Amino acid sequence: MPAAPARLVVLVSGSGTNLQALLDAAADPAYGARVVAVGADREGIEGLRRAERAGVPTFVRKVGQFTSREHWDRALADTVAAFEPDLVVLAGFMKLVGPEFLGRLGGRVVNTHPALSPSFPGMHGPADALAYGVKVTGATLFVVDDGVDTGPIVAQVPVPVEEGDTVESLHDRIKVAERAMLVDAVGRMAREGFLVDGRTVRFGT
Ligand code: GRF
Repeated sequence: MPAAPARLVVLVSGSGTNLQALLDAAADPAYGARVVAVGADREGIEGLRRAERAGVPTFVRKVGQFTSREHWDRALADTVAAFEPDLVVLAGFMKLVGPEFLGRLGGRVVNTHPALSPSFPGMHGPADALAYGVKVTGATLFVVDDGVDTGPIVAQVPVPVEEGDTVESLHDRIKVAERAMLVDAVGRMAREGFLVDGRTVRFGT
């Protein structure tokens, strides 16, 4: 990681509260990273509006704009790479990036998932945890590989399940902890660098 603030490209699909937490943290130069672009796979989402309000360039690459998933993946990789990111943060990005994207940017792409990996991968982490009846769930930040929420783990935070929780109340509480974990871990990655050794991720170089 460079001595200058690390360049973050953040990809979103929804409300973008994790993005907002990064934008807020990055307003302090001591954080060591700044958001240089925000991308999405759909238009009209609050995540893009948050970026616009912060004066950060945005782009949209919709799967449906391309003749194949492979072409979408290449276009997304091209666009993200053009911003020369030190780290790409998938923050509620509801698409799997493909082989071209990972071939070019892999090793510096992280994703945040609202469950304690390896439990409950996929799109419905909070609902699956609730249905299973676990007493503790949480959030996981991991380095993206070619699986679904399977990559080496950077950070995790536990969140107790409370009696009477709904999927929404549980996910809302997970997201509070998730945002703090994301800001802390991305800041450390930016300031200290990180090493991926097999399944182990260490801060520092
Ligand atoms: C987060 O819980 C993320 O882990 C999940 O979707 C949520 C996105 O929230 N995949 P937001 O868009 O950052 O508010």
